Amino acid sequence: MAKYVKEILIRRDEIAAMCRRLGEKISADYADREVILIGVLKGAYVFMADLARCLTIPCRVDFMSVSSYGSGTRSSGVVRITKDLDMDITGKHIIIVEDIVDTGLTLNHLRQLLGTRKPASIAVCTAFDKPERRKVNVTVDYVGMQIPDEFIVGYGLDFDGKYRNLPDISILSDDSQGGAQ
Ligand code: IMP
Ligand code: MG
Repeated sequence: MAKYVKEILIRRDEIAAMCRRLGEKISADYADREVILIGVLKGAYVFMADLARCLTIPCRVDFMSVSSYGSGTRSSGVVRITKDLDMDITGKHIIIVEDIVDTGLTLNHLRQLLGTRKPASIAVCTAFDKPERRKVNVTVDYVGMQIPDEFIVGYGLDFDGKYRNLPDISILSDDSQGGAQ
């Protein structure tokens, strides 16, 4: 284990099983519909690739990037689109694919924003969920795993832009969170 990792919270084989389970459920729910997966960059890029390959229905993929206005690491919930979708989602069934839902502020805003473009339906699929931290009530239709209130990295999730490439969901050692790495 790398020295900057204190503990592995979720192993890669557990994550793979989680993706298969979500893929089966979504494929069954959308059996007769065309769906567009919308990955929220950057965090969702790894999960999006795995989830898409676990679907047995035809789907399209698109990405958007948002940045949250706020002080420091706190999410304000007001999001600015830094990369918009390429596709027109009007009349389409969309699934927003997120890495993690924490306070729910970002997702809440994103749901409302995409709703104004009049898709046929909106669902949300997140790999990880920290329900204890929720500040707003936002519907999350598909949840991979609920996790305790810990700061996690790996599988797309970062600390200061780093560690997204770790294959397991990990908790950083205390000195790595100070920016030492
Ligand atoms: P929120 O739900 O608006 O508070 O923000 C969710 C976003 O915060 C996620 O998309 C992540 O980018 C980031 N985030 C929340 N918790 C974690 C974590 O434990 N590790 C890494 N990023 C996190
Ligand atoms: Mg994110």
